[in-house]
Amino acid sequence: MQQYESVLKRLEKTAREYTNIAPENGQFLSILIRSIRAQNVLEIGTSNGYSAIWIAAALKETGGRLITLEFDRTRAAEAEAYLQEVGLDDIVDVRIGNALDEIPKCDTTFDLVFLDAEKNEYRRYLELALPNICPGGLIVADDTVTMRDEMLDYVEFVFNTPQLHSVDIPLDDGIILSYKTGL
Ligand SMILES: C[S@@+](CC[C@H](N)C(=O)[O-])C[C@H]1O[C@@H](n2cnc3c(N)ncnc32)[C@H](O)[C@@H]1O
Repeated sequence: MQQYESVLKRLEKTAREYTNIAPENGQFLSILIRSIRAQNVLEIGTSNGYSAIWIAAALKETGGRLITLEFDRTRAAEAEAYLQEVGLDDIVDVRIGNALDEIPKCDTTFDLVFLDAEKNEYRRYLELALPNICPGGLIVADDTVTMRDEMLDYVEFVFNTPQLHSVDIPLDDGIILSYKTGL
């Protein structure tokens, strides 16, 4: 991560404005991606690309690729510029559009999906993405402690769907990590 550190540090100064994940959550994603040797990752909610840099840096090691979805054109352009600055733009596809329209257009099988856009849409994002997540694939949802009231339908879904094994992780604003079984 050393070559990306100065840009990540710079972006951490505006993390509140861009509602970026905490560095420890970036590290968590990075560890997961490298552990499962992920080849294809989907991120829902790019903002200015802070988490995309963490994800893409890990994918650089595994030889994988990231599709990241953002409907705010300005933010998507900022993300593209930062990814270019750190030399990760070639493995990241920043798609501009509403995730609810864009997810069904993805014909990739994902090893990991990271949910970080509208909290009350997490369940819809996951239901749309689930057929394209491979058995053994992971779903990481952010803000699951601080914004839980807005995603109660998601919490109900991931803890009550037999195909998913889920756990609450109190890391920064909270994460729910789910594993898709082969059932
Ligand atoms: C919490 S921020 C993402 C932060 C980013 N993952 C990071 O840590 O650097 C959520 C982003 O999702 C975008 N967003 C919200 N709803 C969306 C939707 N339906 N489709 C695409 N993007 C959406 C917002 O514009 C915002 O930039």
